[in-house]
Amino acid sequence: HLRLRSSLPPLPLILLLVFFVAAGKGDGGLRFRQESGTFKVLQVADMHYADGRSTRCRDVLPAQRPGCSDLNTTAFLYRLLRAEDPDLVVFTGDNIYGADSTDAAKSMDAAIAPAIAMNLPWAAGIGNHDQEGTLSREGVMQHLVGMKNTLSRFNPEGVEIDGFGNYNLEVGGVEGTLLANKSVLNMYFLDSGDYSTVPSIPGYGWIKASQEAWFRKTSSSLQKNYTSQQPSQKEPAPALAYFHIPLPEFSSFTASNFTGVKQEGISSPSINSGFFTTMVEAGDVKAAFIGHDHINDFCGKLTGIQLCYAGGFGYHAYGKAGWSRRARVVSVQLEKTESGEWQGVKSIKTWKRLDDQHLTTIDSEVLWNRGSNGRGGKDHDRS
Ligand SMILES: *[C@@H]1O[C@H](CO)[C@@H](O)[C@H](O)[C@H]1NC(C)=O
Ligand SMILES: *[C@@H]1O[C@H](CO)[C@@H](O)[C@H](O)[C@H]1NC(C)=O
Ligand SMILES: *[C@@H]1O[C@H](CO)[C@@H](O)[C@H](O)[C@H]1NC(C)=O
Ligand SMILES: *[C@@H]1O[C@H](CO)[C@@H](O)[C@H](O)[C@H]1NC(C)=O
Repeated sequence: HLRLRSSLPPLPLILLLVFFVAAGKGDGGLRFRQESGTFKVLQVADMHYADGRSTRCRDVLPAQRPGCSDLNTTAFLYRLLRAEDPDLVVFTGDNIYGADSTDAAKSMDAAIAPAIAMNLPWAAGIGNHDQEGTLSREGVMQHLVGMKNTLSRFNPEGVEIDGFGNYNLEVGGVEGTLLANKSVLNMYFLDSGDYSTVPSIPGYGWIKASQEAWFRKTSSSLQKNYTSQQPSQKEPAPALAYFHIPLPEFSSFTASNFTGVKQEGISSPSINSGFFTTMVEAGDVKAAFIGHDHINDFCGKLTGIQLCYAGGFGYHAYGKAGWSRRARVVSVQLEKTESGEWQGVKSIKTWKRLDDQHLTTIDSEVLWNRGSNGRGGKDHDRS
């Protein structure tokens, strides 16, 4: 709709524009909000998107079957984005269901389209079904990193690493405050693989030693920068981790010590590659978020780390008829000084939204509180 001008604006103006765009963006431009001191992430797990209108819904009530397709997944995403107005949308894999998709790139474009249409920054990882269509795992990730508004990255540069889509994002403090140029919240995205390629080990893939080494190094550098570079902070910034396949430690809970439901087994790899222990040792990750098992949606805390399912989002994905498709929201809140200046992170909260008439909010809980020595949780909410 823009008419081409006969001449370009003067060079100084272009340079000024480039400077402002670059300065305003920072690392992907993620930062906490000025008014509320919050940063909100919407996690969308397992859309299983295929061909749109012609792709039928699975596991819905008989009365819901007619006219139900991938487009219902799209409609749910639009409703949620409008209702929650997140600062970042995270797609944790099985975004598309390759086996039923005619064109993997087209399916991915359609699946992510609502986030792009609403001009929201988003990040994605891959699951175990994204590559079953016309693109390989590498090809799917390559496509994702080329899409509009994405903060997804292929892999860290200059590092030998397993998988595709291992990267981290930094969230800056509130503009104009002392922490404006520091990453007060960190996010790690890892490729948890698809299936084991080792003949003697059956089942799903796992996070490999090379990925753990990258995570350890990145976490250590972020923590060092936060606590030593001016203005230096007393404690490392908290972090969130996102990937697809549950770690074996997701099996550590029963209904007595999680919030949400467990309606199927935990489909983790059959061996433990140690990433949970690595996160505990690193110390900054307060919660890890996954998908993969669509009808589990709980959070449980083990050794100071919350392990959370999002619950299945997509209508073409298996689910449970009569049990609403859902998504998980995480809202991170900054501390405020008595003089009213925003500081570092004070608390991390979560809830889920159901695709029912009212987009019902359920299972709100505090995942972490600063100063609670890892004992944060419902019983220790000091707010
Ligand atoms: C799917 O979308 C159609 C069209 O908007 C709607 O009539 C139907 O109720 C939706 N089905 C479900 C299960 O949400
Ligand atoms: C943050 O960086 C911007 C741009 O480089 C600079 O103008 C500002 O003074 C910095 N703020 C702080 C608190 O260091
Ligand atoms: C830590 O700070 C150094 C120096 O500014 C920078 O080069 C490095 O990338 C930072 N580490 C991370 C993980 O961002
Ligand atoms: C949860 O409770 C069960 C017993 O109901 C116990 O065996 C298990 O160790 C608990 N898990 C955690 C992480 O506290």
